[in-house]
Amino acid sequence: MLSVLRIGIGQTDPVVGDPDANLLMLRKLIREADANRIDVLVLPELANSGYAFESREEAVTLSETIPEGAYCKEMAKGSSGRVVVAGVCERTSEGLYNSAPLFMNGRHVLTYRKVHLFNREKEVFLPGESEPPVFEFGEYRLGLMICWDWIFPEMARILALKGAQVILHPANLVLPYCHRAMVTRSIENRVFTVTANRVGEERGLSFYGESQVVAPNGEVLLKMGGSDTGLAWVDIDPARADDKMMTERNHLLNDRRPRLYRRLVED
Ligand code: ACM
Repeated sequence: MLSVLRIGIGQTDPVVGDPDANLLMLRKLIREADANRIDVLVLPELANSGYAFESREEAVTLSETIPEGAYCKEMAKGSSGRVVVAGVCERTSEGLYNSAPLFMNGRHVLTYRKVHLFNREKEVFLPGESEPPVFEFGEYRLGLMICWDWIFPEMARILALKGAQVILHPANLVLPYCHRAMVTRSIENRVFTVTANRVGEERGLSFYGESQVVAPNGEVLLKMGGSDTGLAWVDIDPARADDKMMTERNHLLNDRRPRLYRRLVED
């Protein structure tokens, strides 16, 4: 039986220093998601705050607590009957995290804190200390990672081992390799990947959009433009990701030889 999950990507152009503008973008996307019966809505990384902070102090002023902050409240409101995930600059008593809270049916379900910080993010954020999560949305299993996690194939592999059928991937991409790498992440784990990238320029950094959804066989099912903003969607059957047979004798996960990979988990 074909079972369909409608995945929506909200490709935005967040404005650093203008949280109200970023909130309006979210509200507009939620209205469009309602009109188009989106089941899972994914927005870019740091969608509430923008990315290129002048200083840690500026990031603090643009941060919010999860789930009480204004952006999170709007995500919660917009998650009736669906999942909403977006990157949020998270303030906690110990410091800031580059986080992705997930809301479902009006409530906060979990927050993933980015484990691998990119470049100047190291001056602003603490790294997350927990492995990437998988959660159930009805019969579906969705995993979550953030942007630069893409270059560590361990992250997508952990999510596949935890049963994820679809990896949700909020991003603010600067280097040009990720989209091709995510095709590989899909193939090597036989999962769907959903990369929601931002567009626009911020303080000398350019973000190139082209948000995409990739199928377990590497087919790119949806690709947005390099400067478009707005909602795009595609219907997928997540159960396709449950078939891990690459040939009649090769099961992608069972054929692994972890005893020979110990070097990978040495600190
Ligand atoms: C990135 O992790 N935002 C490149």
